[in-house]
Amino acid sequence: MTTRRDFLSTASLAATGFALAPLAACSQESPPPASNAAAAAPAETPFVGPLLKRKIPSTGESIPVIGMGTSGSFEVGRDEAARAPLREVLKRFVDAGASVIDTAPTYSSAEDALGDLVTEAKLRDRLFLATKLSGVSGIEEGRRQFGESLRRLRTDRIDLLQVHNLRDTRVQFALARELKQQGKVRLIGLTHYRDEAHAELADEMRALKPDFVQINYSVVSRGAERTIFPLARELGIAVMVNRAFEDGRLFAQVKGKPLPAWAIEIGADSWAQLLLKFVLSEATVTVVIPATSKPRNQSDNLKAGVGVMLDAKQREALVVAVG
Ligand SMILES: NC(=O)c1ccc[n+]([C@@H]2O[C@H](COP(=O)([O-])OP(=O)(O)OC[C@H]3O[C@@H](n4cnc5c(N)ncnc54)[C@H](OP(=O)(O)O)[C@@H]3O)[C@@H](O)[C@H]2O)c1
Repeated sequence: MTTRRDFLSTASLAATGFALAPLAACSQESPPPASNAAAAAPAETPFVGPLLKRKIPSTGESIPVIGMGTSGSFEVGRDEAARAPLREVLKRFVDAGASVIDTAPTYSSAEDALGDLVTEAKLRDRLFLATKLSGVSGIEEGRRQFGESLRRLRTDRIDLLQVHNLRDTRVQFALARELKQQGKVRLIGLTHYRDEAHAELADEMRALKPDFVQINYSVVSRGAERTIFPLARELGIAVMVNRAFEDGRLFAQVKGKPLPAWAIEIGADSWAQLLLKFVLSEATVTVVIPATSKPRNQSDNLKAGVGVMLDAKQREALVVAVG
């Protein structure tokens, strides 16, 4: 059976020029010929930064464009064997200069694992931590959950507190505002993960004017282009993108397909980098938060945050290529 690692190695070879015919017509220029040096390159090339940064409109603060999610990947409880690779996932992340990590109290043990690993490596001051008011009703339940998040994350402040999936939105957002006024939270936001919710989310963005909106966006889920992105530009709201890989499903969709010939022109040598660069080629996107439990995939994802993004022609070509 072909593993994801085998597949990425194949994709990397493809990027060096070995199987690139299908989308050559979409290239801005002819693809360069494969060189022996490139062909002999190890499958895992080092990350060469620095990561690009974009501004949060409400504060002017710049944050790195590649962040990280924790759903699934950090839901490991106290299992040492599962925590070990996450230490390296975190190390590679901060070593690259990345900082934005998104979690939630309802991602089972993710806040606990993240809090322990961040504390153990003394990384709190280098991170922008985002969590959520999630699945709670009423202000007291929200307040209790926030207190628990601080305890589990082993911190006294949260950089971004988001109301999760439009549940009890007005009450929880009022609480988030109060916590911001008290200095326990720096920024506040709203999240969702499905195109069907964009209209309601847009209404709440207009009414509540959060600092951030977190929304799904990928090469196969482009609804945000019509509603959320234009509104975020108009209102000056930062955009965090979740599910750029459709929870990993996009890798199955491109399995066995060669990378487009033009990938090398934008410095991408994997499908992951192309999918993330697709998201970041929307200038309104402030940060994208792919989730991974594997150091190798973390390095791969970070490489999408440097150099040029896709132009309009390459964006359309990628949509066709992923299918
Ligand atoms: N409503 C909400 O607010 C909401 C909803 C959904 C998600 N989120 C946030 O957004 C984050 C990201 O979304 P997501 O977790 O649904 O999924 P995602 O980032 O679209 O995909 C994660 C999957 O992709 C795989 N992957 C990551 N990097 C890879 C690479 N370079 N090559 C191959 N496979 C790779 C991961 O597997 P490996 O572990 O094997 O690398 C994992 O299975 C979440 O973790 C969460 O923080 C928020």
